[in-house]
Amino acid sequence: MAVSDKSEIEINLTINGISLNSLSGTSILEVALANGIKIPTLCHDPHLKPVGACRLCLVEDKKSGRIMASCVTPVSPDMAILTDTPAIKKHRKNIISLMIANHPESCIVCNQGNRCELRRIAADLGVGQTGFYPMPFYTGLEEANPFIIRDLSKCILCGKCIRADHELVVIGAIDYNLRGLKSRPATVHEMPLEHSSCTFCGTCVSMCPTGALMAKNDGYVGTPERESSTICGFCGVGCSLVMGSVDGKVIEVNPSHKEGTVNQSTLCVRGHFAHDFLNVSERLTTPLIRKEGKLSPVSWDEALEYVAERFLSIKKANGPQSIGFMGSSKCTLEENYLFQKMARAIIGTNNVDSGSNGGGQMVLTHLNKRLDGGDRVKSLNGLEKAEVILVIGINPTQSVPVVGYYLKRASRFKGIPLIVVDPKKTDLVPFSDLWLPVLPHTDSELINGLAAMLYARKSYNAEFINRFTEGFETYRDGLSSVDFERVSHVTGLDRGIMEKATDLIEGRKIAIVAGQGVLQQRFGTRTMDSLLNLALMTGSLGGEGKGLYFVSKENNQFGAWDMGSMPDFLPGRQSIQNNFMRKRWEQSWEVKISPEPGLNIIRMIEEAEKKNLKALFIMGENPVQSLPQPDRIIRALNNLELLVVQDILDTQTTRMANVVLPGATSCEKEGSFTNLEGRVQSFKPVVSPPGKARADWEILDQLFSKLGYAKRYPTLQKIREEISRLVPMYGELESGSKAFWVKETSNRLFFHPDGEGEPIPFSPVTSIEDETSNDTYPLKAILGSLRYHLGSGTRTGYSNRIRDFALKGEAEISPEDGIHLNLKEGDIIKISSPDGSISRAVTLNKDVRQGLIFIPTAFHENDAMRLITFAHMGDTDFPGWKECNVRIEKSE
Ligand code: SF4
Ligand code: SF4
Ligand code: SF4
Ligand code: FES
Repeated sequence: MAVSDKSEIEINLTINGISLNSLSGTSILEVALANGIKIPTLCHDPHLKPVGACRLCLVEDKKSGRIMASCVTPVSPDMAILTDTPAIKKHRKNIISLMIANHPESCIVCNQGNRCELRRIAADLGVGQTGFYPMPFYTGLEEANPFIIRDLSKCILCGKCIRADHELVVIGAIDYNLRGLKSRPATVHEMPLEHSSCTFCGTCVSMCPTGALMAKNDGYVGTPERESSTICGFCGVGCSLVMGSVDGKVIEVNPSHKEGTVNQSTLCVRGHFAHDFLNVSERLTTPLIRKEGKLSPVSWDEALEYVAERFLSIKKANGPQSIGFMGSSKCTLEENYLFQKMARAIIGTNNVDSGSNGGGQMVLTHLNKRLDGGDRVKSLNGLEKAEVILVIGINPTQSVPVVGYYLKRASRFKGIPLIVVDPKKTDLVPFSDLWLPVLPHTDSELINGLAAMLYARKSYNAEFINRFTEGFETYRDGLSSVDFERVSHVTGLDRGIMEKATDLIEGRKIAIVAGQGVLQQRFGTRTMDSLLNLALMTGSLGGEGKGLYFVSKENNQFGAWDMGSMPDFLPGRQSIQNNFMRKRWEQSWEVKISPEPGLNIIRMIEEAEKKNLKALFIMGENPVQSLPQPDRIIRALNNLELLVVQDILDTQTTRMANVVLPGATSCEKEGSFTNLEGRVQSFKPVVSPPGKARADWEILDQLFSKLGYAKRYPTLQKIREEISRLVPMYGELESGSKAFWVKETSNRLFFHPDGEGEPIPFSPVTSIEDETSNDTYPLKAILGSLRYHLGSGTRTGYSNRIRDFALKGEAEISPEDGIHLNLKEGDIIKISSPDGSISRAVTLNKDVRQGLIFIPTAFHENDAMRLITFAHMGDTDFPGWKECNVRIEKSE
C-alpha cells in the first residue's frame, strides 16, 4: 500500500519504544511527527507527495534491522521503529557531509542565513568540517527577472520546488534537467524563468530548504529580525502570510504554511513580491492641509480639527446630504464599521459607499435578495469535491490566482469536469473539459440555453424544486420556449458545443465560479438570475462543492458590505428600508436614521458635478484612477468645497485633496477581513506605520471626538465588541485572534428545512436585446486584469519589482484582425471608444477571438478606464464596465 493511500485499518507499532496506533497507509514519518517525535527531513513537506529523495529521514526497524526512509514507508503491524540509532546517525551525517561538500562557500552571505535547513540540520548533527574533498557545483546566478534569484549551486535536489510547481500551483514551469551530478531543477531548454510559463508565484521559493531559490531584493537585506503572521491585503482570497522585517521594514513575504488556511503553502506574485510597495518614498507619512494651493504638513490635531470644523459647517449650511463618504473594501471590518457610523450617526447621511460598488455590488445585492443572504459560506476546499465546475466571467489564474490553483488541482488531480465560459482562451482552458467561447455579455442566453437543454432531457431535481423553491412553472414555460437557433446566433456558439456542455452538467450538482465578468457586465443581473435558476433547477445549493462561488476582487469587499459601508444597507446586511431593523440601530446609536438610501459612489460623483455634493471623505480609494472617465471624476472632485482623503500612498486623488490623512496598510495595524469564502481573519501589526501615519480606525476614532461624538474607541477591541453585540453574523469577532466563518442568517426555507422560512423564487427566463453592428466602433474591447496588478494598480503600481518587470500591458487582437488591419506585433495603436482614446502596443494572440480586443487594466495609471462609460450599474442602459465598442488605428 502506498503512503497516503490511507484506509480504516488500524495498525499498532512502536516508535522509540512508545506504543502508537495509526491507520494503514500512513507513513512512519507522519506518525512520528503527529506524536511529537522529531525526525530530520529535507525533501518532505506535508502538502507535497513524498518522494524519498534526500534519505535524511532514515529510521531503523529494530526487529528486521532494516533501514528505510520514513517519509515513503507506510506503517505496518508490529513495527518497532528506532529513529536515532548510531547506524542511523552515521548515515545522516554522511548524507549531510556529502551535501555540504557539494555546496559552495557562499553560505556566510546567503540571505537564507540561519533559516537554511541544510545548515540547521548539519549543526544539529554536529557536522562541521566534512573531511570530504569539496566539489562545489558552480552555476551562474540567474537573476534577470526582478522576483527570484536562482543559485543552483546551493541546490540539494530535494525536488520540493518541482513538486510545488506541479502539485500545488499546477504550472509545470520547471522539472529535473540533466542527470547525475549535473541534475538540476530547470525550465524547458534551461530558458530564464521570465521566458518560461513561470508566473512568479514564489511558491517554490518558500519551499526551498536552502538558499538555492531566493526572493530578489534591491540589495543585501540579510535575515529578518522578526517574522509575524498577517493576511494578504490584495485580493479577496485572503492568503495567510508570514512577513519578515528588519528595522521596522518588511523585507520578505512567505505563505504561513499553516494547516487550514485558504492558501496553505501557496501565494501569487502579488502576495509574494509586490509588498515592496510598503517601503516606497511615496508613502504618506504626515497629515497635510492645502494652504495657498499647496499641500503642507500639519499636526494631527490641526488636521483633524480642520476636517471636523469644515464638515460641521458644511452640514450646517447645506444639510447632511451635501456630504458623502467613500470608504474602501481594502480597509478592515472595524474601520468600515466606524466609517459608516460616522456618516450615519454623526453627520446624519446614508451617503456612504465603498470601492466595491464598482466591483458589481448591484448584482451581488440582487443575489443577496433572492437568497435572503443565504449561501454565504463557500469554502474553496469544496471545489476539490465538486461534481462539475462551471467557471464564468472570470480568469482566476490572473485575477485571484489561488482560486485558479484550486480549480486546476480539482481538474487535474481529482478528475472533476471543468467548463470554462469566456470569450478569450484563458490559461484555465487547457485544464478544462470544455471551453465555451461565448460572445461578450451574452452569458445569460447561454445559461438559459443550457437549462433549456437540461429541461428538454427532463433532467432537473424535482425534489429540491418542490421542497425549497417557488415559481418553477413560469421558469419551465420560459425554458420550453427557448429558441436554440437564436441562442446560438446571439452567443456565437453552435448547438453541438452547448449539447456537450449539457452532457457534462446533466445529473450533477454544479459549482459555479463567477467573477467580475458577470458582476460588471452589461446584463450582469440577468446572468446572475440565469445562474441562480440553473443552480436551483439542479439542486446545486448549500454544502460543499456546489452553488455560487462569487469571487471578490478586493480583500474585504464582502466585509465592507457586511459592515454597512453601503448607501442602502446597515451593518449585518440589513436593509435601510427595513423599519424594524433600522429602529434597532437608532436605539443602539441613539440617533435618527433616514429610511431613504443614500448616494452610491456613482451618484456622489454626479451630485458633485451638479455642485449639490459639497464635501467628500474618501478613505482608501483612488477614484481618479479606478472609475471610468477620469477627466469627469477630476472635474467633479474639483467642484467640492472640501475633499478629505485618507490613504497610504500619494495618488492622483490625494493630489487633489484639501486635507490628506496618512493611514496604515493592513500589516501596520490590527484588524480583520472577510474573504470571498466568508472566512473572517484577524491580524496584528507586523511593523509600525511610517512617520506620523496612523491606523485608520485610530484616525476615525479621533475624528469622532473632534466631531463632538461622546463615545470613544480607545482600543480596537471596543469596536469589535460593539460589532459582535449588534451584528449577529459577526458574533465571534470580539474573540479577536481566531478565524471564524460568518454566520448564515437567511430566512429562506432551504437554510431551515424544518418548515420555517420562505421558498427561494425562480425568476422568469428573459432574453437580452439583439445588438446592432457598429460601423464606427467595429471591435469589441474586453477589459481584464493580469496577475501582476490588482484593481486599478494603485498599490501594485508602486511595487519596484512589478515596475522592473516592465510589462507594457499590450492590447491583444487575433492574428486575423492583425492581417485585416495591417498590424504587426509591437505596433503602437490608438484605441478609441465613444468616451475616449488610449495608446497601446499591440500583440497578436491566437487565443483572442476575431472581432475582439483584450485590454489589460491597471497599466499606464489604469488608462483603460478612459474607454468606458461612467454609468450606474442599476440603470437599464448600463453598458457594462468590462467591455465597450472601439476602433483601432495604427499610430504613425
Ligand atoms: S532548488 Fe531548492 S527546492 Fe529545488 S530541488 Fe534544489 S534545493 Fe530543493
Ligand atoms: S515561481 Fe511558481 S510558477 Fe514559477 S517555477 Fe516557482 S512554483 Fe512554478
Ligand atoms: S493577491 Fe490574493 S491570491 Fe495573491 S497572495 Fe494575496 S490574497 Fe493570495
Ligand atoms: S525526507 Fe524522507 S527522504 Fe527526504
